[in-house]
Amino acid sequence: MVIKPRVRGFVCVTSHPEGCAAHIQQQIDYVKSKGSISGGPKNVLVIGSSTGFGLSSRVTAAFGCGSKTVGVFYERPSDEDRLGTAGWYNTIALTEKARAEGLYARNFNGDAFSNEVKSNVIAAIKEDVGPIDLVIYSLASPRRTHPDTGAVHKSVLKPVGKSYSSRTVDTDKGIVSDVAIEPATDEEIADTAAVMGGDDWERWITALDEAGLIAEGATSVAYSYIGPEITWDIYKNGTIGLAKNHLEESCIRISSKLKEHGGGRALISVNKALVSQASSAIPVVPLYISILYKIMKAKGTHEGCIEQMQRLFAERLFNGADPQLDESGRIRIDDLEMQDDVQAEGATIWPQVTTENLAELTDIVGYREEFLKMFGFGLPGVDYEVSTEPHRPMI
Ligand code: NAI
Repeated sequence: MVIKPRVRGFVCVTSHPEGCAAHIQQQIDYVKSKGSISGGPKNVLVIGSSTGFGLSSRVTAAFGCGSKTVGVFYERPSDEDRLGTAGWYNTIALTEKARAEGLYARNFNGDAFSNEVKSNVIAAIKEDVGPIDLVIYSLASPRRTHPDTGAVHKSVLKPVGKSYSSRTVDTDKGIVSDVAIEPATDEEIADTAAVMGGDDWERWITALDEAGLIAEGATSVAYSYIGPEITWDIYKNGTIGLAKNHLEESCIRISSKLKEHGGGRALISVNKALVSQASSAIPVVPLYISILYKIMKAKGTHEGCIEQMQRLFAERLFNGADPQLDESGRIRIDDLEMQDDVQAEGATIWPQVTTENLAELTDIVGYREEFLKMFGFGLPGVDYEVSTEPHRPMI
């Protein structure tokens, strides 16, 4: 099958197995170019390991620290005549490359929110990994079936307490327009916190603890975002931001639990705004990201997921590093994004952007390239005219 990108709104419905493998190789090469990370974890569980920050965390753990990695994700598998999702192919490529270097890698495709997946993963860890030193929690999901009640909670991206209007961009068509979003209901606020808050993270840690699988001095990290004021009504003060507050509250409880295991710790890392399958679905954010990329590339401070995660591991978590916590106890690996000069320039560009000057004032071209790369398109060295086998069984 010859596979071309087919973009539908903010998703690409096709993905390219060789392109995804080339993307993984780029990430591995980057991590290796930075040298090995001393004092890193031996055994790592990544929940949400197939794309975005979770994927780059797993690459950094395996190829930067030499860790055994267990990945949990929810992807559509390929079959004889149907493409798998990018995360499916990413995981196969990562696993092949890890095993080729003698690194242990095991995968679980299923609903991380369910009790069944938790017990399967824990049984496997017990069987052939042993206590976990690092748990990365990097889920981004539109819904969660509650494991106790069976209720389906759907997360929404809406303002809280007031309606919100701003500009946004259709990244595919390049059209800048105004968007107005009505405030979330109380139920939507609670549902979003049920999906994107910390309840499930805490359940994973409790389940590992009960199985005796928390290593002495273990670390667990979940990811959050704050960003600039222009996005606060939809992000920081919106439904997703309130869910992130819940994540931070859970972090305090998880940290006390991990402390009992030889001084372990749980941390929130506030990451940079990046093109990901999750962020492309948020109104307003892709326009902000296109502006941000333009500014940060010009300053030479631009980073993608892998640069962020390599820096998080090497300069904040391990290598004897000081995590440099902010006043609320969070890691700020969004430090370069939040620099005053970057934000001041962004605030100047923001009101000027129109459909006509989008390509000039923003890095919409770079945004689209990054977007397609997530699905394995536009990678150097991949011949996209050549027919490729869509079916790749999980290994
Ligand atoms: P992503 O969409 O690239 O990755 C989400 C991962 O979760 C994938 O591996 C997916 O398979 C997995 N997943 C989703 N539902 C699942 C389920 N029910 N069971 C098992 N696995 C499931 O997302 P991204 O952007 O990497 O986000 C990860 C975290 O980072 C989120 O907490 C997000 O809020 C945070 N973050 C994202 C930023 C961005 O700009 N993309 C910025 C700062 C933080």
